[in-house]
This record gives sequence, C-alpha cells and structure tokens, in this order.
Amino acid sequence: MRSERSYSDLNEIKYDFSQIYLDKDPREYFRVLGQLDYIIPHVAQPVFEQLIRARAETQDEPVTVLDLGCSYGLNGALMKYALRYDALRERYTDPAMKPLSSDAMLELDRHFYQAWPKHPRVRVIGLDPSESAVRYGEQAGTMDLALPLDLEANDPSPEQANALAAVDLVVSTGCVGYVTSKTFKRLTKLARLGRPAWVASFVLRMFPYDDIAATLATLGLETERFEAATFVQRRFANFDEMEATIKAVEARGLDPRGRESDGLFHADLFVSRPPAEIARRRVQKLVSVVSGVNKPWPVGTHALGSLAWAARAQRRKQQRKLAAAS
Ligand SMILES: C[S@@+](CC[C@H](N)C(=O)[O-])C[C@H]1O[C@@H](n2cnc3c(N)ncnc32)[C@H](O)[C@@H]1O
Repeated sequence: MRSERSYSDLNEIKYDFSQIYLDKDPREYFRVLGQLDYIIPHVAQPVFEQLIRARAETQDEPVTVLDLGCSYGLNGALMKYALRYDALRERYTDPAMKPLSSDAMLELDRHFYQAWPKHPRVRVIGLDPSESAVRYGEQAGTMDLALPLDLEANDPSPEQANALAAVDLVVSTGCVGYVTSKTFKRLTKLARLGRPAWVASFVLRMFPYDDIAATLATLGLETERFEAATFVQRRFANFDEMEATIKAVEARGLDPRGRESDGLFHADLFVSRPPAEIARRRVQKLVSVVSGVNKPWPVGTHALGSLAWAARAQRRKQQRKLAAAS
C-alpha cells in the first residue's frame, strides 16, 4: 500500500502566505494572491451554487452554508450576492482603494454589499482562526455569522456549537491541508441525526482526502470525487514549490502532466452526501463546471508567466522518462 505523507509535511511544500490572512482587510490577500492568479473561489462558485440549489430542494428553510477556512468571506460574498470573483478582485486591487485606511475600506464595503442584489435563500457562516479576517467579513456583509475558531485544536463554545449544528452544507476552498479529519470529527459530533450537512471540498491533489471521507462516512455520508475535471487553484510561486508539488502528486500515484507540470496547482472536488441523494443524481450530473485552465483574466498576470520555462523543462523530463520506460 502506498504510504501517505502527513498534511503538516505536505504543507512545507507550499509557499507560506499566513501573514496575508491576518490583515485587517482583504486588499493584501488580493494583492499577493492576485499576482499568482489565485482563482479557486471563481471556479468553485458555480459548483457551490448548484449544490445550494440541490440542497434547497430537500428542505423548506433557507440553506445554511458553513465556509471552512473562509478568510475574509469571499466564497460567502459569491454565494450571497449576484457577484463574480473578477469584480471582487478588481475592487480590492483598484489603485484608488490603496490609500484608504482599513476602517474606511470597511465602511465602503458595508455599503457595497448592502446595495448588491442578494440571494434570498442562503445564509453563510464563516469559520477561520483569523479573527481579524472573519470579523471584517461579518461587518462588511460577506457572511452572516463569523466563527473565529480553530476546530483542529479546540471545541466550539455552546453558542458556536448551536450555530454549527444548523449547517446544511459545508464548503471549502484552499482549506483542506490546514484542516484535517480532526476538524471534521468535531463537526460530525454536532451533526443533526438523519439530516447531516453535505460537504463539498476543493482539495489540492497532493493532499489525500481518505481520512476525511472516512470520518464523514460515520455520519452515513458517501464521498464522490468529481471525475470530469480538476480545478486550477493558482500558479506556483516559484520553481521549488512546483518541483516539490509534482513529486508529491506523483508519490500519490497521480499524473502531473497537463496539470502541475504546466505550472499550476490543481485541486480535486469531493462531494459527500447520503447514498439516497447520490442514487438520485450523481455528482457528475449535479454540477457543471469551469476548470480555470483557459480563464482569460481581465486584470493581473498570465497563468504560467514566469514558470513557462520550468513547465517546458518538466515536459521534456516527462518525455525522457516515458521514452526510457518504453
Ligand atoms: C488559502 S486560504 C483560503 C481562503 C479562502 N477559502 C479562499 O479560497 O479565498 C486558507 C485559509 O485557511 C485558514 N485556516 C488555517 N488553519 C485553519 C483551521 N485550523 N481551520 C480553519 N481554517 C484554517 C487560513 O486562516 C486561511 O484563511
């Protein structure tokens, strides 16, 4: 059996951006991640939208979504309002916004989100250990409730536990890896009997999802991997990150050609639902997708920009390997 590396070991591969999640507003997040064509909230948006719609068919009350590792609540903004990720990216990287204090930015954001058409039947709870990020999101309106919480290390308070018990759908982008099955074990303890939340996770391909899927199985949830596509998360920050990721992906028995070898982090989509729901409609039928591979960004840099040479070198290496094997 292939032995899987631990998440903390795999996290060493990734460039450390932890500082940008602690800022008082989202501008630094967009400045830094924008340069790397961070795109996963954009490709996740139609998937989350379709899952919310499917879950809404099964209940009368609005759908309560928990965004795990929500940061400033950008997924929340995209689920709650008729807004696109490009619009957010342009807003927070606009040079006119640069001189503003965080308080002034928050005041503008409060009006911005209030004025935007809102999807009426969605409620968003954002969970993240970064108190500054979730508080910003709650006050600005990208989420309805902020839970500054680390379920890897701590149990929720009774009040937080009540809020978590009402969740219908758990979503995440760029978060598995920071969270492990420990977080999901704490969440499953709170689940409503007979009506557990569905779970949709976008997971970088170097991270195994088996332990989390096994934890969700204890609630009677079956996990499907969306097989038709993988999803671009962002460009690699440098060659070391690219090389180490390719090795980690290969060590999991996956083929990096056309994905990581082209200079891009790719994520898989895992969706966990009760078997009866899956029998009614498999995930392949439930969601239609954009993968991000051919996304023409209106602003910012081009995917692959600085790593094109490395991608070409990787391709040559793979071809030599294949030729030697044949
Ligand atoms: C790559 S960012 C993704 C942010 C957001 N989901 C997005 O895609 O824009 C990872 C996030 O995971 C959060 N995080 C780190 N440890 C966590 C934990 N134990 N539980 C929940 N979130 C965590 C970080 O604070 C950060 O906001």
